[in-house]
Amino acid sequence: MKNKNNLLSPVTIRNHQFISTIGLAGGYVKNFPEGEKLARIDDCGFVEAGSYTIAPRTGNIGTTLVHEKPFTLNAIGLTNNGAEKSIPDLLKLKALYASLGKKLFISSAGMSIDEHPEMAKLFGPIADGFVLNAGCPNVYGKNGQKPIQSYDIDFMHESIRRVGEVLPDTCIFAVKVSPFKPYGFAQSIWPKMYSEFRKEGYTIVLKDSGFETSDELFENVADSIKKCGRVDMIITMNTLPNVQIYADSPKDCLLNFHAADSDVIQNTGGLSGAVVKELALENVRMWNSELWKTDIEICGCGGITNGEDMRRFLDAGASLVQIMSAHLLNNDGSKFGEILADCYSM
Ligand SMILES: Cc1cc2nc3c(=O)[nH]c(=O)nc-3n(C[C@H](O)[C@H](O)[C@H](O)COP(=O)(O)O)c2cc1C
Repeated sequence: MKNKNNLLSPVTIRNHQFISTIGLAGGYVKNFPEGEKLARIDDCGFVEAGSYTIAPRTGNIGTTLVHEKPFTLNAIGLTNNGAEKSIPDLLKLKALYASLGKKLFISSAGMSIDEHPEMAKLFGPIADGFVLNAGCPNVYGKNGQKPIQSYDIDFMHESIRRVGEVLPDTCIFAVKVSPFKPYGFAQSIWPKMYSEFRKEGYTIVLKDSGFETSDELFENVADSIKKCGRVDMIITMNTLPNVQIYADSPKDCLLNFHAADSDVIQNTGGLSGAVVKELALENVRMWNSELWKTDIEICGCGGITNGEDMRRFLDAGASLVQIMSAHLLNNDGSKFGEILADCYSM
């Protein structure tokens, strides 16, 4: 087992010591005021700003976020000011986080093989950690589903290698991945998930079986990461891609939007929140079985809402955890302390 599994012993990666093992996942902090709010929350030890793209993005238009207690479905579309324009805010945030002993990660959603390394050059000298977010793009273009980077072995191999070459030694290199299909998914995790939605009056559909990953693909991606020799951390997992949710009443698809750069109407999004917890936990176990002999740490993310969840992620092999949907639900920052205190008491 990789993780030291001890909340009292601080995690240190590449000489960066984490004052708390719980942080905020990517997708919420895109500018200084949002990052400043999070910096003031005592128990949140690290924040992942972004994801940023090279070009500014206005995001998708229409209904792009549905937020209910057991789940969040989003197709926000990476709204951000673009990498270069975001740098003044990120510099200010870094100074603030450093003064509080907290860690700032900056996440890159590169849209091509050149964009992740390009952003690594921009963000690496500022950030405590650089995140290569390989959970994109989670959209349908004119020719159907665009390939998700985590599931494209050539893309993963090349972009990880090239980011590794340009990141400063002081910067933590994290790779954030989409979920891979665990053994027994169809027999146990999926039926449970499906029935949780039915209980609430929804039907969940995985469009075009967009989640058909194989054991071989997972092993190849893990090999690329291990062989690179520079990756310090895996963040698992990003949202479950290609999800459609239909309500019984009124009978409708929950998402309905179009992308700013395409006229295709879309209704699929990425799923997160409590309903993805078992899938996320199983992914932490899978990564742990690949990485336990290495120095690569695991940051667990997906469906954590209380201390027991956090404890289970640590027991599965994570050294750090992140939350997103649970934070969005009350949005006052209290979740971090609540989860941590609950976890300590176990
Ligand atoms: C509204 C929203 C926006 C998100 N945007 C990003 C993003 O820009 N980059 C990223 O790596 N993950 C993004 N995510 C995924 C989260 O960081 C996280 O991996 C996922 O939501 C699972 O965690 P949770 O169940 O605690 O929400 C987003 C999630 C949500 C709900």
